[in-house]
Amino acid sequence: MAEIIDTTLDRAGALARAVDVLGRGRPIALPTETVYGLAADATRAEAIASIYEVKGRPRFNPLISHVSDMEMAARHGLFDPISRRLAEAFWPGPLTLVVARAPDSAVHALATAGLETLGLRMPEGFARAVISAFGKPLAAPSANTSGRISPTTAAHVADDLGSAIDLILDAGPAGIGLESTIVKVENGQLRLLRPGGLAAADIEAVAGQRLLRPETAGAAIQAVGAALEAPGMLASHYAPDAAVRLDATEVRPGEALIRFGGVALPGEEKAAIVLDLSPTGNLREAAAHLFSYMKQADATGARTIAFSAIPDDGLGEAIRDRLERAAAPR
Ligand code: TXA
Ligand code: MG
Repeated sequence: MAEIIDTTLDRAGALARAVDVLGRGRPIALPTETVYGLAADATRAEAIASIYEVKGRPRFNPLISHVSDMEMAARHGLFDPISRRLAEAFWPGPLTLVVARAPDSAVHALATAGLETLGLRMPEGFARAVISAFGKPLAAPSANTSGRISPTTAAHVADDLGSAIDLILDAGPAGIGLESTIVKVENGQLRLLRPGGLAAADIEAVAGQRLLRPETAGAAIQAVGAALEAPGMLASHYAPDAAVRLDATEVRPGEALIRFGGVALPGEEKAAIVLDLSPTGNLREAAAHLFSYMKQADATGARTIAFSAIPDDGLGEAIRDRLERAAAPR
């Protein structure tokens, strides 16, 4: 079983242990502000291979390289003016920028799945301290079995991957609870590859332009975009064991209910469990609760999880995206 270290009790010890395991080419579970990541040395083939192995992840799906500072980022990626402005405005934070790979970047082709581009993110908090102490970028997908719900606590990671990895760093529940927003600049035009923990409107305000969504980016992107541009956007993803029913207006007997905004639904007395993502209707709070409530609902053994409607503004866009993937045919 993995060793679990509470980073709030022994910060220096946790950092030293993390650097030690990473230096041996092994992956560790690392807390970030979005979700817990499964991190390994992005420059070493065998380290990256073990990420794919532990997750059971398809190798055509590239990994995000996490950096501690702008200097490290610029050693591996080439920043166009818009990407640079976004990095300055939002890093460290829940934003991944897909940029051209620097010709002499040491990030291994296994991490980029052979693409000429590189997904870069500077995470906040303890993860950033680990990268800084390690001195090299860390490749890190979410620390869950491929296709399943992303972990927002160390306990989620331990349940799923505890027997496959050596070390889990525990910094408490992830503050944001949704993976980073992924954008890419193409010919001066910003494209949203994955909605996430940074609201699209915040990016648009800084970039001074609208984000092109997959739906409006034309047929070519429709055809290849989901599979190739950000392969993590495969239709079925974030899947609990239970089936998922969206925009429910009533609960059927035995279903688990996850609702929003303190609005009760008819039939709740016969539900397996009733959880409210945010009784006050706050989308940030809802995002932070989403994945752990899905796991809690799943744990009741209910065959279906019903969700009441979630607004689609702000972080609601990313929440709805995850729910649609959870509800997709498997
Ligand atoms: O918040 C997050 O982003 C978390 C934490 C751990 O940082 N990481 C995460 O990684 O969600 P992952 O592997 O689950 O999702 C990474 C996404 C995938 O959809 C992948 O296809 C996309 O990023 N991606 C990575 N590199 C890319 C590239 N060069 N071009 C397009 N998409 C890329
Ligand atoms: Mg993931």
